[in-house]
Amino acid sequence: MTMIGNEEKINKPADPANLTEGEKKHVPVIEAPEMVIAGRPFEVAVTVGSIPHVMEEKHFIEWVELYLHNKLVGRKELDPSGEKVATVIFEVEADEALIAIKEIETCRVRGVNICGSCGEKSVIANLRAVEKCNVHGIWEEYKKIEIMSGEEREEGKKCVWKA
Ligand SMILES: [Fe+2]
Repeated sequence: MTMIGNEEKINKPADPANLTEGEKKHVPVIEAPEMVIAGRPFEVAVTVGSIPHVMEEKHFIEWVELYLHNKLVGRKELDPSGEKVATVIFEVEADEALIAIKEIETCRVRGVNICGSCGEKSVIANLRAVEKCNVHGIWEEYKKIEIMSGEEREEGKKCVWKA
């Protein structure tokens, strides 16, 4: 798979909380489960953008890439179809090894990445979607998802995170 070149600058919205109409047409929208299990595939839909971008010969979204914790997990080349919505569905699987990475932000409830009651492990990792418009360049968006360990837990102990 191809990585984006460093020479290409990523556009940043002036105010991410108040996107302009032009920015809304280019900042990708990521739809993903809030919580996934490591080792089990899940779907991520990336749409450009919250206001549909045109997909015409002279002006279209060339490609969409998806990263999970900085690793490229999918790339799709798009054609100018005349259809107004550029949506790409990626099938993604989180690696169990991600759970052990200490630098990743930990549980949003307890602030640790191992539950003391049931032994459940999780991390919160970033999904990053990147897209390129042939006229307006490269844009990106992030979404945090919680990845729960897929390994067997001790039977009979209740996970307080999910209670
Ligand atoms: Fe554009």
